[in-house]
This record gives sequence, structure tokens and C-alpha cells, in this order.
Amino acid sequence: MKVVLLGPPGSGKGTVAERLLRDFKFLYVYPGGMLREEMGKKTALGKKVAQFLGKGKLVPTPIVVGLVAKKIKGKTHYLLDGFPRSMDQITLLDNPHLVEQVIFLKISEKEVIERFAGRRICSKGLHSYHLKVLLPKQVGICDHDGTKLIRRTDDTPAVIRQRFQVYRKETAEVINYYRRRKLLATVNARGTPEEVYQRVKKVIEQLK
Ligand code: AP5
Ligand code: MG
Repeated sequence: MKVVLLGPPGSGKGTVAERLLRDFKFLYVYPGGMLREEMGKKTALGKKVAQFLGKGKLVPTPIVVGLVAKKIKGKTHYLLDGFPRSMDQITLLDNPHLVEQVIFLKISEKEVIERFAGRRICSKGLHSYHLKVLLPKQVGICDHDGTKLIRRTDDTPAVIRQRFQVYRKETAEVINYYRRRKLLATVNARGTPEEVYQRVKKVIEQLK
């Protein structure tokens, strides 16, 4: 199964992905997490991309496409979280064999905005929690890798506004493209994390 997960910032892509990885055998390909990991390690790539993430802008396509292409080469089961999110990134996946299903987590900006204040992520930048809705087993510590939970540097009101602007300008078009190609399943992303996940799971089970 080759699945793409799209939706506005905070729609719950990462939260749904964690549950999908628990129940299905997917290789998880998450450019946002990979880029934050590079930033955390202060690699040359990390330093280069920090300015884009810090401003809520898309990282240039050649960088992201390079990361994704390397990961999915020759693979038959993967879950792409937040890729492609602009029309020029589609080039990589515009091959009928590279994407089988796109899942769009639909929720309004107004409904999602309050999720950001309570979000905490692991220090590796991969796993996300919420102070009220999704607590870790041990306060302040990631269940998966034992690192300290922190706030995301791009979870400030100004950067969140910019991320939504990018989503409306660039990613909405990608979603419409997959709708026209009849590869899109729209899932209501309101409700508890488990409710949303069960809706996504149904879509995936139909693919098997
Ligand atoms: P990325 O990390 O992908 O950020 P995003 O798209 O803005 O989405 P988020 O990760 O913020 O939200 P999410 O949908 O995963 O929600 P989550 O599950 O965490 O990208 C970051 C940056 O990297 C981009 O701005 C860009 O610079 C760069 N980048 C990434 N991909 C790129 C690409 N393809 N091209 C170029 N640049 C790229 O949930 C949010 C919060 O809500 C959490 O606290 C969670 O616990 C809580 N929550 C989840 N579900 C629910 C629910 N049902 N009810 C209540 N709370 C919930
Ligand atoms: Mg995410």
C-alpha cells in the first residue's frame, strides 16, 4: 500500500500516522520530522532548512524530493505524511505505481487552531502529544524514544498563520488534483483522535 496523508497544519496527520504504524506495516516517510531531526543535529542540511521551517515556508522542492525519493525507492508499503504539498512536488509521485490512495483530513482552520497551544513533541521532532487530549504515559517524556517533550519552534501564532497561508495557496491545489484523479478519500478530522483514526482505518482496510 502506498498512501499519502494530507491536511492542514494540526489536522492530526502525525497522530493518525502513529496509529496506522501500530496496525499496519508501513514505512513512515515524514519530511517535516526528517527536516526537524536534521535541524536538531545541526547538520549542514539542518542549518539550510531552518530558515524555511522557522518562517512556516515550504522547504525548496529539490531538497524535499531528494529526501523522499531516497526513502521510497524500491519500497512497496509506505505512508507519506505531508508530501507532496505543492504541485511541483507531484512530479515525483506522478506515476500510477507510486501512490495508490490519498487521505485528506478535513477540518477548518478555526477548529484546529486551539490544538497548537497544547501540542508537545519529542526532542527528535517525530512524535506529538497534547497537554489535554493526548498525554504521554510519563509526564514530559516521549513514550517512544524517552526524550524530553518540547514545544515546536514553528508553533507560534505568526508562524502558524504563515503555515496556513502556504496550505491554502499550495496544498489545497494538490488535494484538488488528487480529487480529480479519483485517488482522494476525504475523512472528517473532527472528534477524538481515536474516532478520526477509525475513519482512516476503514479507508486503508478497503485497500487490502
Ligand atoms: P509538518 O511537520 O508536516 O507540519 P504541518 O503540516 O504544519 O502539520 P503538523 O505536523 O503541525 O500537524 P499534524 O497534522 O501532523 O497534527 P498532529 O497530529 O501533530 O511540517 C513542518 C514544516 O516542514 C513545514 O512548515 C515546512 O517548512 C516543512 N515541510 C514539511 N513537509 C514539506 C514538504 N512536503 N515540502 C516542503 N516543506 C515541507 O496534531 C496536532 C496537535 O493536535 C497535537 O498536539 C495532537 O496531540 C492534537 N490532536 C491530534 N488529533 C486530535 C484530535 N482528533 N482532537 C484533538 N487534538 C488532536
Ligand atoms: Mg505532523
